[in-house]
Amino acid sequence: MKENWTMPSLKEAKQRTKKQAVIEKSLFNIPSEVKDIGYGKKYYLRTYGCQANERDGETIAGILEALHFTSCDTPEEADLILLNTCAIRQNAEDKVLGELGSLKRLRKTNPDLLFGLCGCLAQEEAVVKTILEKYPHVDLVFGTHNIHRLPHLLYQAMMSREKTIEVFSKEGEVVENLPVKRFGTHKAWVNIMYGCDKFCAYCIVPYTRGKERSRQAEDILDEIHTLIDEGFKEVTLLGQNVNSYGKDLKIEGGFAYLLEEVAKTNIPRIRFVTSHPWDFSDEMIDVIAKYENIMPFIHLPVQSGNDEILKIMGRRYNAKEYMTLFNKLKSKVKNAAFSTDIIVGFPNETHEQFLDTIKLVDECQFDNAFTFIYSPRVGTPAAAMQDNVPMEVKEERLQILMQHTNHWAKVKNEAYLGKVIKVLVDGPSKKNKNVFSGHSETNKLVNFTGENIQVGDIVDVKITNTKSWSLDGEAIKVS
Ligand code: 5AD
Ligand code: SF4
Repeated sequence: MKENWTMPSLKEAKQRTKKQAVIEKSLFNIPSEVKDIGYGKKYYLRTYGCQANERDGETIAGILEALHFTSCDTPEEADLILLNTCAIRQNAEDKVLGELGSLKRLRKTNPDLLFGLCGCLAQEEAVVKTILEKYPHVDLVFGTHNIHRLPHLLYQAMMSREKTIEVFSKEGEVVENLPVKRFGTHKAWVNIMYGCDKFCAYCIVPYTRGKERSRQAEDILDEIHTLIDEGFKEVTLLGQNVNSYGKDLKIEGGFAYLLEEVAKTNIPRIRFVTSHPWDFSDEMIDVIAKYENIMPFIHLPVQSGNDEILKIMGRRYNAKEYMTLFNKLKSKVKNAAFSTDIIVGFPNETHEQFLDTIKLVDECQFDNAFTFIYSPRVGTPAAAMQDNVPMEVKEERLQILMQHTNHWAKVKNEAYLGKVIKVLVDGPSKKNKNVFSGHSETNKLVNFTGENIQVGDIVDVKITNTKSWSLDGEAIKVS
């Protein structure tokens, strides 16, 4: 271990202090000796995982371009390869390590090529140890809390050609005013908070993303006003649990207040992810129901339909409470669509407990569900539990669950046949230039034909055919 390395520490990542996070508005800087280091150099950035990582990828790209790097589409062309990683399940980790191994060959043709690893995997003590032992070609490792340090770290890695590792395990600050390169032209991600304090027994996120820290409402609203001025039509407010927005800053009204303020900006479309059922307040439901520009699409992870499993998972609600919330949302938010996350094969889950999940799925009839086999993550309480469920049984449960969730996805889409719905246009389809694709207010993928249609338009589309994962239709008029 080099003296100047800052290695991740699981012990530190587990700790939580009562201290409010400092909001840093001028922490980011580019020292004069660093400002041109990217001239003539190309970067290849690959992001894995969730929307929080996608948004971090936009910041990383923004910083690299501020240093005059230009992006490229293949790793073969790159002078700098950065993998922005996900740690949520073992297969996400395996994918990245496999990719790191296979990209190593490029060093032969380009000895100056720099390899970097960042994101959630970089926050994991065990992973960084593996990288040091088995992937010595990695030159730079930084975490989720110190993206603002990228200019300094790159300078060190490029100029000294010394392996550079800096991962902060303590959550640190809320860093404002970082550069950003938006990957979308009309839809944007907006962080409203970072981290998670829920510590669900299976989940690595509270360790990789640190404690809950909210951004100030003024900063979020300023960002949204800028996006509106730039022509953006949709924002998705991001947080591991947006419902607890503002608790750390003691913002009165919390997420309900913020959501209402965002709605009043009149941006045409507002979405938000993710909501934990535990702190979904009535005030929030009322705000969602009141404003037309808040999309009637709610991602409400349930994880399991069995009370004992929910308890061991540390989810803080039982199946009945989930159903009560679900039904309240359904009755108050007109024509809402719902999606969820479900884990099967949690340690010692019995067949009967699994059937409770199926029962809940059949009651809720979700429009979409993200279904996973439980994956033990080092350092989480669940990873230390004995597990008597064989992998074949978990796989079988996943198949059965997916038969149910796929069935409801198809049924929910069938109800759109003949209806006219509003679609925000993402662009012409990859396969056919005369066909456009976009998303409905309820987040359905819609492929449709039409004339004089531009990316970012909101178009009325009549649905002529439905499939499990998309709708087909014809545009009626541009509004
Ligand atoms: N194993 C399987 N799925 C997980 N998720 C989170 N941690 C794990 C894990 N260890 C799922 C949850 C969460 C979604 C983002 O990923 O369903 O809501
Ligand atoms: Fe993970 Fe639970 Fe936090 Fe979601 S709420 S990020 S599942 S710990």
